[in-house]
Amino acid sequence: MALPPGFLDELRARTPISAVIGRRVRLAKSGRQWKGCCPFHGEKTPSFYVYDDHFHCFGCGVHGDAVSFVMQSQGASFPEAVQQLAAEAGMEVPKASPQAAAAEQRRLDLHGVLEAAGAAYRRRLYLPEGARGLAYLRGRGLSEETIAGFGLGWAGEGRGALLAALSREDVTAEMLLEAGLLRQGDDGRPAYELFFNRVMFPIRDRQARLISFGGRILGDGQPKYVNGPETDLFSKRRTLFALERAREGARAGGTVAVVEGYMDVIALHQAGFTAAVAPLGTALTEEHLEVLWRLSPVPVLCFDGDAAGARAAVRSVELALPHLTPERGLKLATLPAGEDPDSLVRQRGAAGFQGVLDGARPLGEALFDLMHEGVVDTNPESRASFRGRLVAAAGRIADKALGAEYRSMLLDRFYASRPRSRPAAGGRDAGRGFGGRGAGEPAAKPFRLARPTPTPALAAAERGRHLVAILLHHPNLLHDVEEAFGAVALPEALDRLRSAILQWGSAAEVLDTGALMTHLHAIGLAAEAAQALSAVPAPLAGCAALDAMPAEAEAGWWHFFGLMNPVRLEAEVAAAMADFARNADTAQERRLIALCAARNALRQGDMDGGTEG
Ligand code: UTP
Ligand code: MN
Repeated sequence: MALPPGFLDELRARTPISAVIGRRVRLAKSGRQWKGCCPFHGEKTPSFYVYDDHFHCFGCGVHGDAVSFVMQSQGASFPEAVQQLAAEAGMEVPKASPQAAAAEQRRLDLHGVLEAAGAAYRRRLYLPEGARGLAYLRGRGLSEETIAGFGLGWAGEGRGALLAALSREDVTAEMLLEAGLLRQGDDGRPAYELFFNRVMFPIRDRQARLISFGGRILGDGQPKYVNGPETDLFSKRRTLFALERAREGARAGGTVAVVEGYMDVIALHQAGFTAAVAPLGTALTEEHLEVLWRLSPVPVLCFDGDAAGARAAVRSVELALPHLTPERGLKLATLPAGEDPDSLVRQRGAAGFQGVLDGARPLGEALFDLMHEGVVDTNPESRASFRGRLVAAAGRIADKALGAEYRSMLLDRFYASRPRSRPAAGGRDAGRGFGGRGAGEPAAKPFRLARPTPTPALAAAERGRHLVAILLHHPNLLHDVEEAFGAVALPEALDRLRSAILQWGSAAEVLDTGALMTHLHAIGLAAEAAQALSAVPAPLAGCAALDAMPAEAEAGWWHFFGLMNPVRLEAEVAAAMADFARNADTAQERRLIALCAARNALRQGDMDGGTEG
């Protein structure tokens, strides 16, 4: 049965093997594994172990994955087992076809192509042409053992050298294109190397098969890192750097820690933290969380000790909440301000990072502080809206029992928290909460609303630009704001964008920023859209950023709206309160919270003389 590339990997990734086996065998947790009496030979003392993706019996030697367990325990054929597990995982089994068989074969070939390239990169590191690369890696404190262990290499000069080196092994340009190592040249020009004059970091999947590379420039050029493109083998959403080693490290009892970069991971492994991983230049995804939870029930996410780190923490928590269960938790750790794990272990050794891990806090504890950060809770309205956000956060946990525990814990802390005055930057509440242990750090602001604006005339244009920019990045707000959006006065270019956005929003099936930008491009408004998002004349407020939290974007939108039309904002708040009183559903609640946050920011801005940021 030939299945398309990646189907079985995806099926395995979505199938918790302990649950499949747990239906037939009574399993007990044993360290990081599960343990039970082998169903394949009679035994009284358990010697059958279930790991994150396979089982093994030390009594009779039987061994396999979820698919082979179903085959062996139920006498099912391979297609039947796949069919059954796919149905349970909510996946459709694609029809087998000769094309699918050919695609699978190509995938196997691609691993081979990447291995050949990796070997060429490794070789070059030790040739005269790689000397600068090798010196760079040594200069960053990597031992020979680490350099070899991670298979680091040197990409060389480019200009066809890779193809030349590999053609002896029957690798063609087409294969290198498919593997993401060559890029197609423009209009008929020859393909060229994606990586040149860079130190090379091999990226492997959980089974240690080579799937891509990252490359770092020596010194300060841009871009600092280049990562291979998405291919049949490599999906950034799913991949964590050094996962194949971290599985070993976790099994040996290491703390699964998620950090930011390649060099952080490598420095940590060298310092003995052998279960460290990193995403590849993207924010953490739900797929990453799934992968992490197969390594550890409580992975530790490490964040920078600044406001951006706190925002990233909030985003990760938002992402994780729906998936939490008693067996799937998270801890959050904060790095000292201005340090990354690499710089930390170089300066303070393993103890420096161990301190960070020791300070990691369980999600439940961190959640309240993260949400409390920046909240102005002296007045009843904002306390009520904060309480609403806490309840809503607990409500997002799908596991009912756990959600109820979170809810009561958060509310206990809410009632125990005394209303406090507005935290001024560096004031008595600065450094509380997420960035808590590093004294003197600026308090993170969950809501980044307006920035100081230079002149009144520019300010007016900038407000309108923000209304558009926020919607370009967060078009999912469209249905909630379209009436108000239609009512503001905008200069011509923004007005044209607005019409196009509203029209698109009324027809689009999914309100997604990529689709919207593609659409604007197609109808000739790309330049206007780029101008609306540009950092000129002034950088956009954080709430307009692509990575702003949805709640932040929504409150920010209303804030700019209120700056343009304060009377209408008050009317919107009043209407939302009335709606909420009639029908207290979560959508109404969310809207009311956003509107109140915007109005409070506006009032606070008035007190501050119109600026904040
Ligand atoms: P950082 O810029 O924080 O760098 O990028 P770093 O890891 O501290 O790198 P060094 O220490 O200067 O070598 C963190 C991660 O973000 C991705 C990479 O995965 C990097 O490891 N990144 C960064 C890119 O993909 N492209 C870039 O241009 C920069
Ligand atoms: Mn670094």
